[in-house]
Amino acid sequence: NNQKKKQTIEGLELLTKFYHYLLTTAKYGTPGMHYLESRGFNEEMIERFQIGYAVDSWDVVTKFLQKRGIRLELMEQAGMIKKRGFDDKYFDRFRNRIIFPIFNMAGKTVAFGGRTLGDEKPKYLNSPESDAFHKGQILYGFHLARQAIRKSSQVVLLEGYVDVIRAHQAGVLNSVASMGTSLTEAQASALTRIADTIIICYDSDTAGVEASFRAAEMLQGNGKIIKIANMPEGFDPDDYIRKFGGERFKSDVIGASQTLMTFKMNYLRRKRNLSDEGDRLLYIEEVLKEMTSLTRAVERDHYLHLLSEEFSVSLDSLKKQLHQMSVTKQ
Ligand code: CTP
Ligand code: MN
Ligand code: MN
Ligand code: MN
Ligand code: MN
Repeated sequence: NNQKKKQTIEGLELLTKFYHYLLTTAKYGTPGMHYLESRGFNEEMIERFQIGYAVDSWDVVTKFLQKRGIRLELMEQAGMIKKRGFDDKYFDRFRNRIIFPIFNMAGKTVAFGGRTLGDEKPKYLNSPESDAFHKGQILYGFHLARQAIRKSSQVVLLEGYVDVIRAHQAGVLNSVASMGTSLTEAQASALTRIADTIIICYDSDTAGVEASFRAAEMLQGNGKIIKIANMPEGFDPDDYIRKFGGERFKSDVIGASQTLMTFKMNYLRRKRNLSDEGDRLLYIEEVLKEMTSLTRAVERDHYLHLLSEEFSVSLDSLKKQLHQMSVTKQ
């Protein structure tokens, strides 16, 4: 089984080089290169992340694997090739896609994510779970970000492949991605083990914002500082950096990230019209409701003061109501 895993990774390593060769060779890679250029990715990133291209063919990869003597059934289990129903012949699973190798902590390829050049579905085709690849145990870009994370003791958590690559291109070298919005326990503990501050910067859409709350709650409670970055609605880090540049990303997004409670308060605030008295009261209630999950007295006190000052309500009444809400919650 260990032998099998080793051989699988050898095959995937070879394919990393092959897809990268296809991308960077004009005869094969032009559509892929055009796509990456149109999105503004530079050569340095194409090299650092070993980006590749699967040409629009049914058997280029299958033939390559055969020629190199790689065990095809291993590559089938790793999701690189599939068997045709009618004659049991293998064909390539990734076709006409940009290929993002997914590296393990040691920098070896254990899977691929393949993006369409257009808007066909699915947008991303990923390697299936296997002995070599457990998606939930990997943070995309980790081995490339490790040094920068250690140095700053700070890690920036993003959603996607292209967000990480864009962030690195902009010089935010301590960024990694959970590859989607569902952070796992294994990913969370890898993050809290390596850094003192974790900044969550998921896409600024409903799914991303809700996932940020979940992630922050998972990461909280072991003495680490958990913050959430705030971007204009509809942007993801890649979009933001393309539009406003890396410096503004560093200062206005990463630099202005907030604790979970402040982030929630701003989120709730945006849904209300605080010049309206009814909305003001509802807002205060919603904030108090969120505060029932705060465990530290100092933290509770801090936010109670903020509320009291902003809305000219007595600290005492806020405390009473929070206490009541905490009791009824249990
Ligand atoms: N993802 C995935 N499979 C999908 C959709 C998403 O694995 N069908 C993962 C990928 O790691 C992707 C991340 O979730 O990078 C975030 O998804 P999304 O925001 O939809 O894509 P982007 O990363 O923004 O990609 P792009 O900018 O190319 O649209
Ligand atoms: Mn190269
Ligand atoms: Mn998203
Ligand atoms: Mn996105
Ligand atoms: Mn995007």
